[in-house]
Amino acid sequence: MLIPDGAPGLVTKFPDEILSCPRCQSSIESDGKRAYACPHCGHVMPVLGDVPWIHHLPEASLWQWRNALGAELDRLRAQQEKCVAATKNPAIAAATRQRLLRLAQAYAEQAPCLETLLAPMTRAAPANAPGFADAMATRLPLSQTLSIYAQTLFRDWAWETGEADALTRCVRSCIPTEGLGDKLLVLGSGASRLAWDLHQSINSIKSTVALDHNPLLALAAAKITSGRKVKLHEFPRAPLDHKNSGIMRTCAAPADTRPGMHFLLADGLNPPLREESVTAVLTPWFIDIVPRDPRLLARSINRLLANGGVWINSGTHVFESGDELTRFLPEELREIFAAEGFAIEQESFDEIVYLKSPASCHGRLERIWTFRARKVRTVDRPTPHVNVPDWLMDLNKPVPELEYFRGMQRQWGLWAELSGQVDGKTSIAEAALNFGKKYGLPDADALGSAVGFFGQLYEESRRAGR
Ligand SMILES: C[S@@+](CC[C@H](N)C(=O)[O-])C[C@H]1O[C@@H](n2cnc3c(N)ncnc32)[C@H](O)[C@@H]1O
Repeated sequence: MLIPDGAPGLVTKFPDEILSCPRCQSSIESDGKRAYACPHCGHVMPVLGDVPWIHHLPEASLWQWRNALGAELDRLRAQQEKCVAATKNPAIAAATRQRLLRLAQAYAEQAPCLETLLAPMTRAAPANAPGFADAMATRLPLSQTLSIYAQTLFRDWAWETGEADALTRCVRSCIPTEGLGDKLLVLGSGASRLAWDLHQSINSIKSTVALDHNPLLALAAAKITSGRKVKLHEFPRAPLDHKNSGIMRTCAAPADTRPGMHFLLADGLNPPLREESVTAVLTPWFIDIVPRDPRLLARSINRLLANGGVWINSGTHVFESGDELTRFLPEELREIFAAEGFAIEQESFDEIVYLKSPASCHGRLERIWTFRARKVRTVDRPTPHVNVPDWLMDLNKPVPELEYFRGMQRQWGLWAELSGQVDGKTSIAEAALNFGKKYGLPDADALGSAVGFFGQLYEESRRAGR
């Protein structure tokens, strides 16, 4: 943040004028050093390295992500110990020992790499746990672990497979002839190669703000695009051979970064940006994975865009939602977005290779939807996104009888009964008999439940390797 504008390969001053206070929505100001503050409500937020951490509850959210780092370090340690212990077994093949030793070394090396990369976050995080309500309010969705999208970092900055270029081509084909204006916001920018490619190649863009909530991705992208290298291990799920089971990748930018590329750590579902402050919004692989009604997401993008601004989306249209009722199709989304003030001007469907690591036998083939929608009218403000319902934040509120909870009550009751009978002596037939008697179930039903339960439990134990 203190580096002068225009210095090659360095970060230029953040466009402060677009930021707004996540608490009172007033303009916020940088102290020119390591913090932002709201002159209206006094809210203070840190800067990690060069990346502002603009959150409603900055300390609690730092604490969540520092815990996520702790969980990742524990996992690496446990994996390393498991691999080393397994090599002591004289019955394993020599090639297996070679692979496990390679993995153990990679796990051991990964921990300090992550600690170094995330040191700005660890330093800024509070020593003590936040209060219960703040901890619940900043709780991360279970899917959002620290390294869940690590592969995108390698695809963007290390693999030489052309995958990142193919994505950029899809998006570029949707850019209007007059360009994207001077301020581009990328929501859920991840490792940010796409954001960087657009920034590098479209001179009319004066500021690109790559927003993500994941500090591993944002801090890595900020470091890489400022001309430094990030070294991390990739652990492919189906490595080609033992050398590829844990492989050190060096992530680097292919060129110096043009001035005006910025990173922002914030919640993309409540973006802390002033209304009408950007000329274009890009959502790459974002609308499909966030727990937000697409109406409300479109509404918040509408409010961020200047009149006549464009929203470009690219990625699969549905991924995360497990509920058939909300797995919306493009034809439904077109209608929804039109009702939220957007006119789709151009769209394409392209089949692309997705996350096919050169070190792995796996890779996905996806049909992605890229569209350009223009803001044709301003719509109402969306209600803010809340991570968790009030009864999870207020311990005195009753837990609602959701249909899913009731189903789980029955299932877990049954599982607790059956698993409680495992003592190394009782057979499935005996367990079923005891359990059926207790609940007045016909023998055949009790036996069916017990066989189903133990079959599933066994499969899960095999998958977990225990
Ligand atoms: C499927 S990845 C796509 C990443 C990147 N756009 C790409 O195409 O490689 C989804 C991204 O959204 C980010 N994300 C998820 N929920 C978010 C939220 N509430 N606020 C900001 N970023 C979020 C994740 O950290 C991740 O980087």
